[in-house]
Amino acid sequence: MVSGYGGEPILQGVDIALEAGRIGVIVGPNGAGKSTALKSLFGLISLDQGRVLFDGTDITLVAPDKRVGLGIGYVPQEMNIFPSLTVQENLEMGAIIRDDDFSHVIDQTFEIFPPLKDKRYSEAGQLSGGQRQMVAIGRALMVEPRLLLLDEPTVGLSPAFVQDIIERITSIARSGVGILVVEQNARRALEIADTGFVLAGGKNLYTDTGENLLNDPEVARSFLGG
Ligand SMILES: Nc1ncnc2c1ncn2[C@@H]1O[C@H](COP(=O)(O)OP(=O)(O)OP(=O)(O)O)[C@@H](O)[C@H]1O
Ligand SMILES: [Mg+2]
Repeated sequence: MVSGYGGEPILQGVDIALEAGRIGVIVGPNGAGKSTALKSLFGLISLDQGRVLFDGTDITLVAPDKRVGLGIGYVPQEMNIFPSLTVQENLEMGAIIRDDDFSHVIDQTFEIFPPLKDKRYSEAGQLSGGQRQMVAIGRALMVEPRLLLLDEPTVGLSPAFVQDIIERITSIARSGVGILVVEQNARRALEIADTGFVLAGGKNLYTDTGENLLNDPEVARSFLGG
């Protein structure tokens, strides 16, 4: 993908590939283009060059809302919940494109995120940071996506909540949903990654299994804090 916001492209030829049901983790320094890569995959910004394939189909020109219909969920880095709506209403908003009975999906979401069940009728804005992230992810799950794009789901969370969210990401993937997640907690996230992508300056620097990246001294020194 080559893409940006007008002017010089931010992504200067980034490749991201993920097999169905797997976990991909994108790491890299601030401003590397991680969020831009997710926005490009979801179609929020259009590509100057390159293409996006989903299940072998070229979706480069498909609008984001149509990508949701195809089975791609996206949780942005910021402003990803409706704070004045209840947890239940947030989840229902996620299902707005559905015209079938989705109550089983709400139940599944409460199984993945039990704390949300107790807070079901609370305003989402009143929840803890970790629980708000659960609402955001839960909302994206309401369309039963096959691929979930998560932009920094653990940002601002205390270490215990970081681990909690990362473990829940693993359980979502085990249920068959592919996940591509951007993470600042690079070490923790690479531990669960089938594939890790290290981006810097709008380019892929390294692409390998999470394990290999964690064991690469060069990657560790430059991007994982030693
Ligand atoms: N809406 C925008 N308009 C113009 N430039 C933008 C916009 N969003 C991001 N950029 C620029 O694109 C570059 C990459 O930003 P991006 O948000 O993709 O980085 P990132 O890797 O997600 O960083 P962070 O770790 O801080 O979230 C930065 O130089 C940023 O200033
Ligand atoms: Mg970002």
